[in-house]
Amino acid sequence: MTDVYSGHSQFVLLTDNRRRWFDGRTLFLLIVVTVPIIIFCGIYTIILKGNEALLYPKSYVEVPSLLKHRAKSYSDARSSKYFDIHAPPSVHEVKDFKLVCYYNFPTDDFNTLQPQDIDPFLCTHILVGFASIANHSINLAENELQILSMVASLKTFNSDLKVLVSVGGAGDDTGFSDMVVNHTNRKTFIHSVVNLVKKHKVDGVDLDWEFPNEIPHHDKNQKLHFVQLLEEIRATINKQTRHKFLLTVAVAAPAVIVDNSYDVVYLNEFTDFISVMTYDFHFFSKVTPFTGLNSPLFESQDDKGYFRSLNINYTVHYWVSRGMSRAKIMVGLPTYGHTFRLTNSHNRGLYAPARGVGKLGSLGFVDYTQVCKFLDLNQISPVFDLDSKSPYATKGSEWVSFDNEQSLSFKAEFVRDYQFGGAMVYSLNADDHMGACKLDPNVQNKPFPLVGKIREILDKNYSIY
Ligand SMILES: *[C@@H]1O[C@H](CO)[C@@H](O)[C@H](O)[C@H]1NC(C)=O
Ligand SMILES: *[C@@H]1O[C@H](CO)[C@@H](O)[C@H](O)[C@H]1NC(C)=O
Ligand SMILES: *[C@@H]1O[C@H](CO)[C@@H](O)[C@H](O)[C@H]1NC(C)=O
Ligand SMILES: *[C@@H]1O[C@H](CO)[C@@H](O)[C@H](O)[C@H]1NC(C)=O
Repeated sequence: MTDVYSGHSQFVLLTDNRRRWFDGRTLFLLIVVTVPIIIFCGIYTIILKGNEALLYPKSYVEVPSLLKHRAKSYSDARSSKYFDIHAPPSVHEVKDFKLVCYYNFPTDDFNTLQPQDIDPFLCTHILVGFASIANHSINLAENELQILSMVASLKTFNSDLKVLVSVGGAGDDTGFSDMVVNHTNRKTFIHSVVNLVKKHKVDGVDLDWEFPNEIPHHDKNQKLHFVQLLEEIRATINKQTRHKFLLTVAVAAPAVIVDNSYDVVYLNEFTDFISVMTYDFHFFSKVTPFTGLNSPLFESQDDKGYFRSLNINYTVHYWVSRGMSRAKIMVGLPTYGHTFRLTNSHNRGLYAPARGVGKLGSLGFVDYTQVCKFLDLNQISPVFDLDSKSPYATKGSEWVSFDNEQSLSFKAEFVRDYQFGGAMVYSLNADDHMGACKLDPNVQNKPFPLVGKIREILDKNYSIY
């Protein structure tokens, strides 16, 4: 009996409790507890929206097992036979290689390369540079716009050719840092690019900012802002119905700069391809007063420590390991070289002491035509470094690192056999574009021997003869 009663009384107690739950005091407590939570959540969302760094977490890349397998097959191939680089990983096939060539606006020099002298069938892409950024907009002088249109008109001969305008270039980045800093400025830039692309019938834009976040002055988020620029350009391209255009980026080679400047996974996502500037690995400077190769393919025995990473092979594999797909990597190959003045003309190998740039060319840079004449006039046979697949030549205190048909054959074979997307060449201007070079009396002179050689290797159907 008592059980029943107590049970009943408990029930009464319970309903009483329930009723009390809704009385004024509890409701007050409820509001006191939940309202701050709602306000906190609201503020948090606003902060999250405003703080772009939280929306773009630093990407984490897991290397797919496929790539690990490939990495292993390279090292196997490497150890089995020292010089054998012909060990293609047959996982997937890039059928059409790109040959992306930079063309610089002509100078006043009498033997400068004019747009009408560019072979329309040599490259798959011509990147015309460089435009600057003024008032957050892409900026070209009137005569430069004319040249750009002339290059674009090469497409009437070869309808497959793509012509892009390149923005930036070494030593001109002030425009970029002011432009990327906020959405308004980026929008202005993107609008100007869309207009230029439409008006001058070009196929895209190449961004050559050297380099985002290099000097993190007022803008600590430059790396992120660059990604946002790319994302916004991509969104704009997707919205175009008739004027879809290409977005490409010229990027640094040294691993330290790659880490500092780029969030590679987003570059992979938003660009059509990147061109890795795998050159300028060695040149004379006060902190590097010794000889070295402009663009070695592999490390050489003389490389020690950090210098072992300064070559094409290490760099492009580093890009792959950070999340860039092979098909989007254009491996940069130079047609120009670097000069050095030896401290002691009898000490003339790699890492020989140097006390300045050479006399050849200008400011330590030399194009292939001048190297060719130097070799011809002095009857020099260059030394071919077998490790790095690169030549150098020396006479007296002059020391020159350069590339020729032989070295570029090895490098183009590397691009082909390791299934990268293609090669980028800097530049058409620095090749022997007039065909003035005559090192071998049995061979007929031809314009663009270096770029032609690369093309020949990447494209079985192409012959420079
Ligand atoms: C940038 O804007 C300023 C002020 O509006 C103008 O004077 C200048 O000519 C502009 N520069 C270019 C390259 O358009
Ligand atoms: C963007 O930056 C420019 C300076 O480059 C500044 O004048 C402008 O007010 C900024 N706009 C916004 C919306 O922050
Ligand atoms: C090329 O680079 C890869 C990855 O860094 C390395 O494993 C391989 O040994 C290198 N090949 C040569 C020939 O140096
Ligand atoms: C290359 O040549 C072969 C045979 O000569 C032809 O079948 C093929 O279509 C050509 N490829 C290209 C890309 O022109």
